[in-house]
Amino acid sequence: MSDRTAAAAPLLKLRGLEQVFDTKKGPVAAVGGVDLEVRAGKVLCLVGESGCGKTTTARAAAGITRPTAGAVEFRGKPLADMTAGERTAYRRAVQYIHQDPYAALNPTRTVASTLTAGLKRHGLVKNRAEARAKAAELLRLVDLTPPESYLDSYPHQLSGGQRQRVNVARSLAMDPELLICDESTSMLDVSIRVSLLNTLGRLRDDLDVGFLFITHDLAVAKYFAWDGEIAVMYLGKVVEHGPTPEVIGNPQHPYTKALIGAVCEPDPDLARANQAAEQLRSAEIPSLTDLPAGCAFHPRCPAYEPGLCDAAEPALERTGAGGRRVACHVVARGRRTDDRTLTLDAVPGSRRPAPTGAADDPNQTTGAAWSA
Ligand SMILES: Nc1ncnc2c1ncn2[C@@H]1O[C@H](COP(=O)(O)OP(=O)(O)O)[C@@H](O)[C@H]1O
Ligand code: SF4
Ligand SMILES: [Mg+2]
Repeated sequence: MSDRTAAAAPLLKLRGLEQVFDTKKGPVAAVGGVDLEVRAGKVLCLVGESGCGKTTTARAAAGITRPTAGAVEFRGKPLADMTAGERTAYRRAVQYIHQDPYAALNPTRTVASTLTAGLKRHGLVKNRAEARAKAAELLRLVDLTPPESYLDSYPHQLSGGQRQRVNVARSLAMDPELLICDESTSMLDVSIRVSLLNTLGRLRDDLDVGFLFITHDLAVAKYFAWDGEIAVMYLGKVVEHGPTPEVIGNPQHPYTKALIGAVCEPDPDLARANQAAEQLRSAEIPSLTDLPAGCAFHPRCPAYEPGLCDAAEPALERTGAGGRRVACHVVARGRRTDDRTLTLDAVPGSRRPAPTGAADDPNQTTGAAWSA
């Protein structure tokens, strides 16, 4: 295990992160108080529909934008409190990979020039030969081999997948500890996407790089973050967060269920959830300038209960074991009922066991069994 993994503390912490944009229609609360952590060699996947605040969260996490409230911390230090030197180190350690591999590359620069610009700027290479050798090494890391075939190419001479690999290689030049991938595989064909995901997975496992991985595609989230965590965002807030196998295999929040239900995937886990998903009450996403009262999902939620769901906003609360957090009144009520049952069961004599056979008899009510 490397030093990086040995450090159990999170690399990146988002604490109560808020981002409000002032627009002609009024303030847009794109991110409304997000708390998340990413650790070395681990993946935190942020999923949700378009417009739910994933990119805004990612840009604040990468230090590209300054949040309206809350904090971004790297290795325990808030970005806002960093010295110029610490900020430079942070900018090297945390790299942002955009969705569009073409737009992110300068069309007038060769691959070698793109890969070595940062190295030269930071004085990490002594001369041209060293820079070229380093560029070749980076290309090997992202499976663009032989590197000599790519070093003198321009972006327009590469495929979309090759361009995105060059983008990843460029960020690796800075020896990053954390990659923030914002829909970085979304524009690629499926086979190329899987191949790039496998390359990124190797960087995660071999180099201990942590990932804040953003996607609207749950199949991609499941594939890449199976050993990590998924946070589901809805209208600027995290509504469910937990280990990927639990969130995918047993979603709790009605929105997560709906998201998984909408996936057209020949995948047994996703297909099972698909069958169980209930119809949304509305397909329309409310406006961020006019959010519904109470739970923001209530106008669409199949489990909506008037008087409960529209009265107050549900808090993101731990539910059960395994570190799952869910923001839903109905889920919270179910958990409280379960907790009460467990507590009563733990008190000797508080529950009389059902007579033998009663539990198997569908005509025998529980009440009748207890009153026997
Ligand atoms: N610079 C901005 N000015 C005003 N509104 C913005 C700005 N950037 C994003 N938004 C709005 O914030 C919301 C979240 O956007 P974004 O973070 O890009 O969502 P996602 O990446 O999940 O699709 C959207 O409603 C978007 O229109
Ligand atoms: S709080 Fe109510 S409306 Fe919101 S997700 Fe839960 S059941 Fe649905
Ligand atoms: Mg986005």
